[in-house]
Amino acid sequence: MAIPTPLQKHYLDAMGIQVWQEKQSVINDQTAFSPEINLPRESWEFLKKGTLQCQACHLSKTRQNVVFGSGNPQADLMIIGEAPGAQEDSQGLPFVGRAGQLLTNMLQAIGLTRDKVFIANVLKCRPPNNRDPQPEEVAQCTSILTKQIELIEPKLILALGRISAHYLLQTDQALARMRERDHVYQATQTPLMVTYHPAYLLRSPQDKKKSLEDLLKVKAKLHSATSIQ
Ligand code: URA
Repeated sequence: MAIPTPLQKHYLDAMGIQVWQEKQSVINDQTAFSPEINLPRESWEFLKKGTLQCQACHLSKTRQNVVFGSGNPQADLMIIGEAPGAQEDSQGLPFVGRAGQLLTNMLQAIGLTRDKVFIANVLKCRPPNNRDPQPEEVAQCTSILTKQIELIEPKLILALGRISAHYLLQTDQALARMRERDHVYQATQTPLMVTYHPAYLLRSPQDKKKSLEDLLKVKAKLHSATSIQ
């Protein structure tokens, strides 16, 4: 059977009829988008609306809210964490818990506010009990992050913690090693830096000094990237 239109799918669902469909990422899957969306496919709003309705993986069954990301979609700096926690899930916003407060303070330390950057996560839905994202969840979800990076075109990406850095750099190096050098996010050739996840810093405050050093490097790199133009 051909892939049903969203309206046909609605009626098939209402009748309890399951239609086999090739597994696809939600962004490539037009049927995942509701029919009232009438926005250019390449637009930020199209991506956001589609993401908020995503049911590509089983996390859609346990989430309260999709956490698309927040901040300025034209930011020079894009900050990428791991996945929403309990508070992020309940508010639909990234980094709003204790780790988020620390992130806000870290940004303030280099003269930035949250509305000057864009903050997102590798996963848009909360894994139950805050467990690590599973490979199939990452595989289903990251076309959204890829598209966010493409549309924002940041001058610099800051990966927070091991999970984010491993995904973005496709490596399994230790965080301490990744922090030590500058990287490039291959898909868009965007400069990328790695620092500790703020949740880790809450548990290991002795490393806050090192993370401040990282942020000062971020500030310098942003300054040189934006003053070249
Ligand atoms: N940890 C993350 O990685 N992301 C959030 O949004 C919150 C906590």
